[in-house]
Amino acid sequence: MGRPKWSIFVVDAAAADTRAKPVNLDHLLKLAGPDMAGVDSLIRDRMQSPVSVIPALAEHLIGGSAKRLRPLLTVAAARLAGAKDDGCRKLAAAVEFIHTATLLHDDVVDSSELRRGKVAAHLIWGAPSSVLVGDFLFARAFELMVETGSMSALEILARASRVIAEGEVLQLTRAHDLDLDEAVYLQIIKAKTAELFAAAAEAGGVCAGATSDQCRGLRQYGQDLGLAFQLVDDSLDYSGASETLGKNPGDDFREGKATLPLILAIIRTGEAERAFWLRTIDALEQTDADFERARQLVRETGALDSTLKAAAGYAASAKAALAVFPTGAWRTALEDLADFAVARLA
Ligand code: IPE
Ligand code: IPE
Ligand code: MG
Ligand code: MG
Repeated sequence: MGRPKWSIFVVDAAAADTRAKPVNLDHLLKLAGPDMAGVDSLIRDRMQSPVSVIPALAEHLIGGSAKRLRPLLTVAAARLAGAKDDGCRKLAAAVEFIHTATLLHDDVVDSSELRRGKVAAHLIWGAPSSVLVGDFLFARAFELMVETGSMSALEILARASRVIAEGEVLQLTRAHDLDLDEAVYLQIIKAKTAELFAAAAEAGGVCAGATSDQCRGLRQYGQDLGLAFQLVDDSLDYSGASETLGKNPGDDFREGKATLPLILAIIRTGEAERAFWLRTIDALEQTDADFERARQLVRETGALDSTLKAAAGYAASAKAALAVFPTGAWRTALEDLADFAVARLA
């Protein structure tokens, strides 16, 4: 699968996003290289359609700077569980199709303008085409899953698709809600993000014939990794740069989305900034300068540090869930992936 297009850094939990050192994922990328090349050709093959706007739009997104983390999870979980054949590749391609479909829908819902370093598809082809090609990719995912013949994997990924949609709708109904608390936030990110990570890992185990204990461990690993991943994503929306992120920071703030950095900053600034939050988040009346002010507040109140520490906690718990497997190359690789989820800047 070649060198990743993103830079990889580890964040020292004590200093959060201010001091970084590289995480070496070479080991994982080398191990998973042949599988990921196979997954990539399946993706290229199955994104085709005689309706030309479909492959054109799909190529725009699929050819961008995607990390392919979720399919990587599926193949790594399958190999860790002792998979001898290449059946996991179809499941992995299905997982990436589900993810890509949700991104197409999500960018319409979030009015996001940049995705994977490119102009968002809905700004080029329009929201209707973007939504419908999302549906096409979902359908392709289900065709691939049926081809594997595994009812269990199909059940796991079908449930994940439903739960993601529930998470996205729940988030939508709680937009610019100043009183949204950590519990609801956790419920949202568990559904919209962690569920697919959990399903990706569990389905990999299932297709390799892993024991039920091992499948539970893989599911827990994926869920905790997904939570860590989304917590970091939400902090990067305040601290990241569009050049490395491939998407515009500030999207969450502009949409009035109550993510953990914002929830903590609102609590910690109390009455002093109540009027600012009421105007910018509750009433969604914002000027260009407001995002800079919000950035400053999430940093100064330690809200960003706390979010990254929470992510580090979930990454540690993800690694612990792998204890059902003996130590070895694949287990180490998945442990490295948990460090990457916290350390990433892209
Ligand atoms: C983006 O996921 C959606 C979130 C859950 C934050 P990724 O950051 O894995 O997106 P790509 O696939 O690498 O573009
Ligand atoms: C990501 O949601 C989750 C899904 C796409 C289901 P976000 O809206 O938080 O992610 P980005 O920031 O657009 O990638
Ligand atoms: Mg979004
Ligand atoms: Mg969203």
